[in-house]
Order: sequence, then C-alpha cells, then structure tokens
Amino acid sequence: MNIMTKKRKDLITIRELSVDEINAILDRGDYWADEDNFRISNNARVIDNPIVCNIFFESSTRTRFSFEVAAKKLGYHILNFDPNHSSTTKGETVYDTLRTLESMGVNCAIIRTKEENMLQEVAPQLDLAVVNAGAGAFEHPTQGLLDLLTIRQHFGRIENLKVAIIGDVRYSRVANSNIVALGKYGTEVLIAGPEELLPKDGAKSLGEHCSLRTVDEAVEEADVVMMLRVQRERHPRKDDFDWDTSEGRLQYLERYGLTVDRFRRMNEHAIIMHPAPFNRDVEIDGSLVEHSHSMIYKQVKNGVAIRMAVLERALS
Ligand code: CP
Repeated sequence: MNIMTKKRKDLITIRELSVDEINAILDRGDYWADEDNFRISNNARVIDNPIVCNIFFESSTRTRFSFEVAAKKLGYHILNFDPNHSSTTKGETVYDTLRTLESMGVNCAIIRTKEENMLQEVAPQLDLAVVNAGAGAFEHPTQGLLDLLTIRQHFGRIENLKVAIIGDVRYSRVANSNIVALGKYGTEVLIAGPEELLPKDGAKSLGEHCSLRTVDEAVEEADVVMMLRVQRERHPRKDDFDWDTSEGRLQYLERYGLTVDRFRRMNEHAIIMHPAPFNRDVEIDGSLVEHSHSMIYKQVKNGVAIRMAVLERALS
C-alpha cells in the first residue's frame, strides 16, 4: 500500500488530533449522546455496509462492547476476533492478521495491544483504518475523548478548569491520553499518587500544564477528580501494597484513594471520574461510585457516542 494514498483515518494517539478535530469529534459525540439521535442514519455513510473488527489482545468490557454497540447503532457489520482461537497462536503477526482481514473486506480494525508502539508501525502499511483501543501504557485515545466530552457536557467547557489525575499515573494509558488532550486546551492538570506510581521524571515531564500535588491538595483544589485504576498487570515488580488482604487495600484507599472524608473536602461543584474498571474501596470508596457527583456511568454512556463519532470519522 502506498502510504500517501490511504483513504481511511486511523486514530492511534490524541497527539495527532488538532483542537478543531477533537472538537469536531466531541460535537458528533454530543449528537450521538442525544437519545433522539440514537437511530441508524445512513446519510453520513461513505462505504456501503462497512465492516469493522474488534481485535483485543488484552481484556476489556467497556471499550470492546461500546465499540460493538456503536457499530450496531451505525448499522455497520462488526466482527469479534478471538486471539486465543486465531492463527496468532500459530505465530501469525498482527500485521499479517490485519492484512488478511483487509483482504476479506474489513474496513476498520479496532485494536487493543499490550505493546506500546505496534500500531504506529502497522497502521501506515494498511488500507483499513486502525483505531487504537488501548496500547500498553502508551495511550487510549477514545477514553480520552469520552472523558473530554463528559467534562464539556458538565461544565460547558474544557478550558479554565483544574483536573486532578490521581493514582497510578505511570502505567496508565488513560492518564496519558487525558494529559495530552487537556494540554491542547491549556487545562491545568494536578498529578498525585504514590511516588512509585508517578512519572519517573516528574509531573512537568508530562507537560507544562501539569504539576505535582499531594492527594489531599489535588482533591481540594480540583474541579474534576479523576481517579485511576491501579494497573497491577503492568507493574514490573511486587508492589508495596498487599492487594490480597483487605488491610492492604484499605491502606491504599486511605493514603491515595477517594475516601468519603476526602470527597467531603472536594469543591461543591466538583465531579468524580474514573475510567473503570474500578476497584471498589481501593481507588474509590464504594459508596461514591454511584454518588450524584460521580460521572462514572455517564463516562460509560458517552463511550458509545464517542466511538460512533470515531468510527464515522475512520470511514469517512
Ligand atoms: N476504560 C476501559 O478501557 O475499560 P475496559 O478495559 O473495560 O475496556
């Protein structure tokens, strides 16, 4: 494939999007977030009967099924690739797998990988659109976009807010996509969490809009309190926390999590976010998950709308 002739639009990282492009996706996501518009519209379709394929090499509930729901709402065909029963178990590479699916007429591959750099390498070699559904600790662009939409719906803006990102920032692709996206709007980001789970080179290494706080300071200062899942599967060595005991989990909650006491010290107008899956009573007190200040299920709902917008963009 000649890279210059590629017609479809990949989405590998938020870095590649301008603020205008992000706003266009959010506007279209907002359109799809309106229940009245949750009908199949063929008007925007540029390929007849588009075929998209979910290819998840890591576990997922939200991303995988919201892409599937999004595709169905758009009237697209969706295939679900099962890595454990595919020829990748015989040594077939991801590129060769995608080239094979492309030869069958698949127009868009939605991929979650353990690797951080694979999609950047394979996408330009393929005619089908490649959408990053989470790549190692690198980025999770559609999560970043749905988080922006959730913030914009609530506050009417993304600029001039303080967003606290708290917890396992070092291993979080969600944090990376949000930090990059918020930086494009000049939004201040407050970073907090256990030292061993914060960026090795300090908060400023993530961008000039980022600065370090204690968890208490971040919670008290922020308009948005975004808690992160502890990414145990990516930690290189045994953690300092004993996750297998209730005492160990409670210790994390009390030191770094959103406790009821910390929630009470949040700004009155502030909202709680978490990309999920969340560990109840570890990153967040279980009683706060469905609190009126919590946007967690709103984020999940917006995930379908944003993924509809991203699929339309990919195939336009
Ligand atoms: N937030 C998120 O990516 O969730 P899943 O791992 O369930 O897709």
